[in-house]
Amino acid sequence: MAFVVTENCIKCKFTDCVDVCPVDCFHEGPNFLVIDPDECIDCTLCEPECPANAIFAEDELPSGQESFVQINADLSKLWPLITEVKKPAPDAEEWNGKPNKIDLLER
Ligand code: SF4
Ligand code: F3S
Repeated sequence: MAFVVTENCIKCKFTDCVDVCPVDCFHEGPNFLVIDPDECIDCTLCEPECPANAIFAEDELPSGQESFVQINADLSKLWPLITEVKKPAPDAEEWNGKPNKIDLLER
């Protein structure tokens, strides 16, 4: 199993999650982060850190978020590692909680 970044990270990208991961699982795209499922050790530390509540255990994904398992697996192989917190998107708070952000995911 692994933890999964889901839709509400898109266009928020707060990056608090990166700070607590002991094994550097996070990879960064233009407006979203993903977790490498092959590196995640299920420590649970990142889940409560996300201000957007976007991180879930793979077996506790909210309904409709199942496609993010494959998205994390695929994009973590393409995107560079991120190991330090950076500033969120300037309008992150405005996007926090907006529905249907998956169409805005930049790859
Ligand atoms: Fe990293 Fe732990 Fe989160 Fe997995 S559960 S991504 S190991 S902080
Ligand atoms: Fe995204 Fe939450 Fe991390 S918004 S970058 S999963 S802290």
